[in-house]
Amino acid sequence: MDIITMNQAKDYVDQTVTVKAWVTNTRNSGKIAFIQLRDGTAYFQGVVLKSDVSEEVFDITKHLSQESSVELTGVVQEDTRSSLGYELLVKDIKVLGESHDYPITPKEHGTDFLMDHRHLWLRTSRQHAIMLIRNEIIRATFEFFNDRGFIKIDPPILTGSAPEGTTELFHTEYFDEEAYLSQSGQLYLEAAAMAFGKVFSFGPTFRAEKSKTRRHLIEFWMMEPEMAHTDHEQSLKVQEEYVAYLVRNVIDHCPQALERLGRDVSLLEKYTKTPYPRISYTDAITLLNNNGFDDIEWGDDFGSPHETFIASQYEQPIFIVNYPKSIKPFYMKVNPEDPRTVLCADMIAPEGYGEIIGGSQREDNYEIMKQNIIDFNLDLDAYAWYLDTNKYGAVVHSGFGMGLERCVAWLSGIEHIRETSPFPRLLNRLYP
Ligand code: 4AD
Ligand code: MG
Repeated sequence: MDIITMNQAKDYVDQTVTVKAWVTNTRNSGKIAFIQLRDGTAYFQGVVLKSDVSEEVFDITKHLSQESSVELTGVVQEDTRSSLGYELLVKDIKVLGESHDYPITPKEHGTDFLMDHRHLWLRTSRQHAIMLIRNEIIRATFEFFNDRGFIKIDPPILTGSAPEGTTELFHTEYFDEEAYLSQSGQLYLEAAAMAFGKVFSFGPTFRAEKSKTRRHLIEFWMMEPEMAHTDHEQSLKVQEEYVAYLVRNVIDHCPQALERLGRDVSLLEKYTKTPYPRISYTDAITLLNNNGFDDIEWGDDFGSPHETFIASQYEQPIFIVNYPKSIKPFYMKVNPEDPRTVLCADMIAPEGYGEIIGGSQREDNYEIMKQNIIDFNLDLDAYAWYLDTNKYGAVVHSGFGMGLERCVAWLSGIEHIRETSPFPRLLNRLYP
């Protein structure tokens, strides 16, 4: 007899199998018991007929408590009423591990309570759906970049450099020195692009941001491609193709998860079409000022209401290009057509999800980069290795970073970023 998981049920219709699962709920009418179950791959129902099983087995169904782990033997049956399409006609049950007073009951719980029990909250079908979408985005990311000849490069987590500014750093002791937790692997990826041409990383990054919003995590994962011999324009193409690819794959490979989350797939379909619209920073400021936003002027950074309004003018993700130099990091290349601005873009997701990608062409002139480092009050010695990128055979190069969790929130259509990470690190939350 095969031991299966219920996501394989379609290959076992009318066969007797063993499934290991946890109980989410039970209903017993005296003659028939319905057990709601999950096995990590699916949420499904087990049906136990009193006439069909031994007295001991039917007795067990009366005492199964929420989250007990069980080993079930039974026959796989089609069941058109369930979203899975299959159920198990149970013939035998063995309790593997009992569970008493499980804290998360079918009634409503507040967010704080659920966050305190995040390790258990993960067991619900909603969290399962979100993690499947997260997993699919990761899978499709590796596929996309591998198919296009990128080499995966892992930049260090413990680092002495601060690409995105010094205010949001986590400091830590590094023997006799001071180190930071990486905000972005970008500077290392630029160096690696000079060694390997096209590279990408996917790893944890850290921001000691004192912001408590539905878009900010303290620890998040970033995909960061970096490409030699690639200008800003070419980089934008890669970005829109990449994001459209992620959306396509989530639609095609996660239909049940999207259904569980109530996601409007017709909206997602629109996001698979490229190219994505573009608006310059300067035009975006004018657009805002013409629409009643008098709290922002040229030179200011956008807040989330601004981003949301701009994005709402379009039906796809958009690029806002060429921000002022003064509000962007030191490494961006100046826009030759308007030297007040830089060759950069933020990709803004629709539906109020905000910035999902930040990217730019990088300064490739050694002297200008050196001056930028001085102007930004960074320690030249600490960046000497980085300057070598431009010192020895500088080339036009560009790259970008996409925040995994922002993308998961958007494609899942969920309200808050905290549910996109299995164990989110938030302002004032390090537990569990
Ligand atoms: O715009 P950011 O800060 O860009 C960089 O770090 C560049 N060095 C990337 C590069 O060019 N290689 O961050 C990139 C993305 C943002 O667009 C956003 O999606 C995500 O990372 N992000 C966050 N996600 C969750 N919580 C936070 N606190 C985030 N900060 C940035
Ligand atoms: Mg940014």
